[in-house]
Amino acid sequence: METANQNIYPITRKVNKNGNIEIGGCDLIELANKYSTPLYVYDEATIRSITKSYKDAFKSYPNINMMFAAKAFMTKAICKIMEEEGFGLDLCSGGEIYTAKSSGFDMSKTLFNGNNKSFDELNLAIESGVRTISVDNFFELALLNNIAKSSNKTVRILLRITPGIECHTHEYIQTGHLDSKFGFDLTQLDEAIELIKDEYTNLNLVGLHAHIGSQIFEKKVYFDEVDVIFKEIKRIRDKYSITLSEINLGGGLGIKYTESDKPISIYEIAETIIESVEKHAKEYNIESPLIFIEPGRSIVGTSGVTLYTAGSSKQVPKGRKYQAVDGGMSDNARPSLYQAKYTVEIANNPNGEANEKVTIAGRHCESGDILAKDIMLPEIEEGDTICFYTTGAYGYSMSSNYNRVLKPAAVLVNNGKSDIIINRQTYEQLCESDVIPDKFI
Ligand code: LLP
Repeated sequence: METANQNIYPITRKVNKNGNIEIGGCDLIELANKYSTPLYVYDEATIRSITKSYKDAFKSYPNINMMFAAKAFMTKAICKIMEEEGFGLDLCSGGEIYTAKSSGFDMSKTLFNGNNKSFDELNLAIESGVRTISVDNFFELALLNNIAKSSNKTVRILLRITPGIECHTHEYIQTGHLDSKFGFDLTQLDEAIELIKDEYTNLNLVGLHAHIGSQIFEKKVYFDEVDVIFKEIKRIRDKYSITLSEINLGGGLGIKYTESDKPISIYEIAETIIESVEKHAKEYNIESPLIFIEPGRSIVGTSGVTLYTAGSSKQVPKGRKYQAVDGGMSDNARPSLYQAKYTVEIANNPNGEANEKVTIAGRHCESGDILAKDIMLPEIEEGDTICFYTTGAYGYSMSSNYNRVLKPAAVLVNNGKSDIIINRQTYEQLCESDVIPDKFI
C-alpha cells in the first residue's frame, strides 16, 4: 500500500477554483497574504496520515514503540500532535527536552540521544523524567554515572552502537558506517558493558541503539541492522548473562523530493523490520524485545511546503535567468549544504506551461545561496508566490539568522483553517540576546 512519503505533494494538495494551489483546504495565496512570506505551511492531515500508516504497518508486532525524531521539526504544536497520535519523542538537545516538557508532553515517552551531551543537558534530562538515555561514548558513561550517583538515582540507558552498515545516501547524513562520530564501535562494547557491570552501578543497561542514516530508500539495510544488533544481544547474553530487552533502530526512511526519488513505503519497511526481528528472535531464542523506531523526515517532510514571494530577476546575457525570492539559505539550508533538490510550483499559476528554465536564488549575500538550479517553470512574474514542496523536515529546524534575516513563520492547515504554530521572528527578538558592554555606553 502506498504511503504519503512516496508522494511529493501533501495529501490534501489540489488546484482550487481560483486556479491557485490549496493545501489543507487553504488557498496558498491567501495564506501568503495573511501571514506574509517566507512561510512554512504544514498539512496536519498528511502528518496524521503518516503516523497512522506507521501504527498500522507495525500492528502485527505488539512490542513496538514509535518516537518522532524531533530534530526534523520541533515546536510545541508538533509535540501535541505526536502525543495525540501516541508517538514518543526522540530528543537530542537540552532545547528539545525543554520544548517537549514545556508543551506538556509525557516525558516518560522520550529518549535523549546525541554524541556530546553536556553535564547540564544530562541533568535536565534526568530532572525532566526522560525515560531513557542513549549513551554514545565512554566519556558520557562516566559523566552520566556521576550525575546519577550524586542524585542517588538509577538511569535507564541504551548503548548507541555503530553497526558498520553503509547506505546509499549523502555522506553527511550517513551515520551507521564504521568511521562515524556516533556511538561505540562493536569492538568497544564489551569494555562498556564491563564498566557498567562493575563500576557504573547507577546505570541500568536495558538495550542497544543504532541509526544507520537518513533519506534511505533500501529495505535491506534495516534487515542487516536488526541482524547486527541481535548478534550482539545474543553474544552479550551468552557472555555476561545480561538480557537486553530494548532495541532502538533509529529512523531514516526516505521521502520523495523530486520525480526521480523512489522511496519505499512505510509498510515495506515495517515488514522488513518485523520479519528480521522475528527470524532472529526465533533463531537465537530471544524473547520478542521492545522495538523502538524514531523516524523524523518521513513524518513531517511531505507535510510541509515553503512559500516565497518572487522579487527581482536577472537574465545574464547568454547565460542563466535568476529569479530571486524573499528567503533562502537562512530558512532552508539544505540546497546549499547537501545540493538538495526540490519540486517547485508557482502557487498562483500551477497549471501554466513550464517553458522557461530558471534558477531560484535566495536573498542572501552569498553566491551559493541558490534554492533550485535550472528548473522548468512557467514564466514567473514579480509578486508570484513560489511554492517549494517537501520542506517539512530539516528546513525550519536548520534555519538561521544569517544576514540577520528574520526566521519565518509556520502555520498548520487543516479543513480550511490555518493556525499559526511559530510566529515570525521580530527585529526586537533578533536583538534580544545582544549585549553592549558598559565601556561603549
Ligand atoms: N535517530 C537518530 C539517532 C538520528 O540521528 C536521526 C537523524 C533520526 C533518528 C531521524 O532520521 P530521519 O528519519 O529523519 O532520517 N539534516 C539532514 C538530516 C540529518 C539527520 C540526522 N539524524 C538533512 O537535512 O537531510
